[in-house]
Amino acid sequence: MSSHLPYIAISAFDIMALAAVIGTLATGLWIIPEGARESFHRRLWRLTGLSLGALTLSTIVLLIGRTLEMSRQSLRHLGHWLPLVVRETSFGHIWMVRPAMLLIAWAAWFIARRPARHRAAYGALLAAAVIAFTRSATGHPADQGQWTAPEWVDFVHLMAASIWAGGLFAMTVAIFPVLSKARLSTPVRLALVQRLSSIAAMALAGILITGVLSAYHYLGGIRPLFHSAYGHILLVKLAFVAVAIALGAANRFLFVPRIRAAEPAPRTVGTPAPAHEADERAFSHLARSVAIETGFLGAALVAAAVLLHGMPPREMEHAMGGTMARVSEPMGRLEFVRFKDQRPVRPMPAISTIRYGVLRRSASEMNGTGTPRPPFNQIAL
Ligand code: HEM
Repeated sequence: MSSHLPYIAISAFDIMALAAVIGTLATGLWIIPEGARESFHRRLWRLTGLSLGALTLSTIVLLIGRTLEMSRQSLRHLGHWLPLVVRETSFGHIWMVRPAMLLIAWAAWFIARRPARHRAAYGALLAAAVIAFTRSATGHPADQGQWTAPEWVDFVHLMAASIWAGGLFAMTVAIFPVLSKARLSTPVRLALVQRLSSIAAMALAGILITGVLSAYHYLGGIRPLFHSAYGHILLVKLAFVAVAIALGAANRFLFVPRIRAAEPAPRTVGTPAPAHEADERAFSHLARSVAIETGFLGAALVAAAVLLHGMPPREMEHAMGGTMARVSEPMGRLEFVRFKDQRPVRPMPAISTIRYGVLRRSASEMNGTGTPRPPFNQIAL
């Protein structure tokens, strides 16, 4: 596990940057009500730019990290392996979609600097969604091939998780700190928290359905949940998710009704109302609770990154059951082919290498037919 820590950190950074981009855009488009858009546009636009900067950085670091992970070489040899990874592996081919999508997202972000440019914001969201799909297409879900059901389930899971976790992050960083100064009418403020609560509830429903489907797919039953390292990490993640759900329920059923009850006499939308003390107190409780919920969701995202670098029990059975990787042509093209592993004691693969495409051993370690000479140790690939 410890040798995987840098790669886990890179995945966590990439997931968080993606969630921040998607969540901030979703907040501007779906959570902030019409009467409040002008007040928060600048802050949300700046946060989207910062998140896009982080996603651009994580895209570069991800490529470097995967190259080092696949080649098992140090940074010194990066210049040799990186072009090979981009040109010759399925990960590299899919990764190349990212810079193109980032360019589109940056252009859309620039256009959306003025309020009411919704189409540009949707363009940036679409580009971010394609980037999310590149994650699903290069993770465990892609082990059974591209465009498969597990890939789509993972994509929906990632999008819903990004909307929930990223949306709460945007609210915590960009909206709540200036909410009381924004001089919004109470109905507009109420509409804002109600929208936040509804979007979070919808995202949660999507996350739970897709999460359970993925978990069943990778675990293959209930037992491995309690008897495998992968299952244990999933349990830790579920603990973080459970706390976040409890906090979300408190927001929906405790704080939002309190805000509604604290609402002074009904006013027309758009008319500024003097801040009501009880109203302010209820809002500050909600803001604190949302900040804590964001923290637990951040922890769940880190746990998801650890899962991505673990070996799902179903895949482990498969790998230990006799299929391993070899280089098809020792001197030239590097690609993934399956072969029968004849060794009596098979080493436990440290990571699921299958999904990476393959960058393998030197030609001297292959026999004439391109099969690795024994002993063939996948961990050293
Ligand atoms: C019932 C609750 C949940 C279950 C059972 C669940 C289960 C899973 C499983 C099995 C995976 C696949 C990991 C792999 O590829 O090996 C996954 C991925 C992931 N989960 Fe969850 N999850 C749940 C809730 C959440 C929540 C609340 C979040 C957000 C904070 C979240 C964020 C993620 C992310 C970001 C990924 C990685 C997707 C990717 O990069 O392809 N999950 N989850």
